[in-house]
Amino acid sequence: MNAIDWKNLPFGYLKTNYNVRCYFRDGKWGELEVSSSEKIDIHIAATCLHYGQEAFEGLKAYMGKDGKVRLFRWRENAKRMRRSAQGVLMAEVPDELFFEAIKKVIGLNKEFVPPYGSGASLYLRPLLIGTGPQVGVKAATEYMFMIFVSPVGPYFKEGFKPVDMMICRTADRAAPLGTGHIKVGGNYAASLVSLKMGHDRGFASVIYLDAKEKKYIDECGPANFFGIKDNTYITPASPSILPSITNMSLIQLAIDLGLKAERRPIDIAELPTFEEAGACGTAAVISPIRKIVDEKTEEVYEYTKDGEPGPISVKLYNRLNAIQTGDEKDEHGWVDLLEI
Ligand code: PLP
Ligand code: COI
Repeated sequence: MNAIDWKNLPFGYLKTNYNVRCYFRDGKWGELEVSSSEKIDIHIAATCLHYGQEAFEGLKAYMGKDGKVRLFRWRENAKRMRRSAQGVLMAEVPDELFFEAIKKVIGLNKEFVPPYGSGASLYLRPLLIGTGPQVGVKAATEYMFMIFVSPVGPYFKEGFKPVDMMICRTADRAAPLGTGHIKVGGNYAASLVSLKMGHDRGFASVIYLDAKEKKYIDECGPANFFGIKDNTYITPASPSILPSITNMSLIQLAIDLGLKAERRPIDIAELPTFEEAGACGTAAVISPIRKIVDEKTEEVYEYTKDGEPGPISVKLYNRLNAIQTGDEKDEHGWVDLLEI
């Protein structure tokens, strides 16, 4: 393989050696299979193609200073994928199969785990799709679970540099009683036009508001929102956002750092009062926000004085990174060392 420029990796797809696959047929999961093909062969009437019967996950593996590969909170991803499966009537992937597939796919692609200190990591993309044919709107009886991996750099090209975001007034990503709380492809399809509109206008992402009242912050494209003020970490409670595992971890780290933490609706009227703001997620890690512009009112909210991340965002980012790479003690039992 060509030498990889680990320090300048984008967040994207890079071909690796293998992926792993498993099929659900006749009411049960089969054996895990290894493939070196980047293609899958599915029925033309598969439910994933027509009715969006699919779910995915995103998690990362990190190389530690000790040369051991670490996995961050995979059980939470497994649990969320089961919830997603329930939400669109798919066969659930048992946690044991999920973990077996993770270990196998990382082991087979070990040379793609970015070196310690490169700032990059190995992104794992578990995918569950309905493969059985249906023409009526019904759940499939056959499913395919697979994981591919790709070494990645930061999701927002700025990395840990503050980015600008726009409050989206012309589209909703998810409805209060819809599927925003699970990780299914339809939510992302629904965000493509507005995300492109944001990008075309120079923003790293758009921020969605709650679909019902258009009053509260939902989330920042593929990442959750947080604001910091008065020594408090505040993040939205909403039925239409994806419960982020990174956000859940940052709440705990904020408490560990002596902050208070609140998960509650965030009225946009509160935006001017935050001292720091950011987006968080597996891909985004923490992306500090420099300014937020409201698409409708054109009001601008600024969160950095000198274009640098705020002090609490820096502390949270460093602590999270240090736990993930094994530089600091994993007090909460979030990291699994892989024997591969
Ligand atoms: N929100 C959305 C819509 C996402 O796609 C993601 C990514 O998974 C997140 C938030 C962040 O979640 P996590 O921290 O679990 O990756
Ligand atoms: C992640 O953070 O893992 C995500 O899944 C975001 C993604 C949609 C790029």
